[in-house]
Amino acid sequence: MARDLYRAIHKAMRKDLFEVSAAIACADLTNADGLAALRGRFAGLLASMEHHAHMEDHDVHPLAREVAPETVDAVTAEHHVLDRELAELETELGALSEVPHGDVWSRGQAFYLRFNRYVASYLLHIDREERELMPALATIDAERLDALARADYEGPVEMLVGAMGNMMPLFNADDRRQILRDIEASRTAEEYAQIAAAARASIGPTSERS
Ligand SMILES: [Fe+2]
Repeated sequence: MARDLYRAIHKAMRKDLFEVSAAIACADLTNADGLAALRGRFAGLLASMEHHAHMEDHDVHPLAREVAPETVDAVTAEHHVLDRELAELETELGALSEVPHGDVWSRGQAFYLRFNRYVASYLLHIDREERELMPALATIDAERLDALARADYEGPVEMLVGAMGNMMPLFNADDRRQILRDIEASRTAEEYAQIAAAARASIGPTSERS
């Protein structure tokens, strides 16, 4: 399969969004601990969405602008709108702790609907990146795309070893092979051996077919 800069990371993001939606759906909004746990979860989502948009704007878009400037402008504008909406949702979630007891369930349901509308907008946004921007990016020299993809696997080896347990189970065998090929190309043989061992341990001996 051709190089796809978005495939793996967008799978992880869809999982995060669906899990937060499910967490809101069943949260006890009358309970201070439940509300605090939900706010913590939401803050994590906000940080990861901001990081991802920043990475795309600063690392992917300069390259993509060479081949699809109008699409880059469109997805950059979407990042601003989506970031603002998520920040407003965080404020709305924070305000739920001040809502009179009799109104908390209706305000919680309104928040749940608004969050899912955000998810719907976000899914359309990443669909545009995958279906419009990635084919344009694929016309760029493969070595430049490879360098961009492999930049994700810089940093301390311990960090990558630790990340494998959360990361690898999110992906199918084809995704995992691409990730391991990129890591192998980015690290020394000794580092790669450590990371690949952690990757194998995270998915179990029988779940990978090559
Ligand atoms: Fe994006």
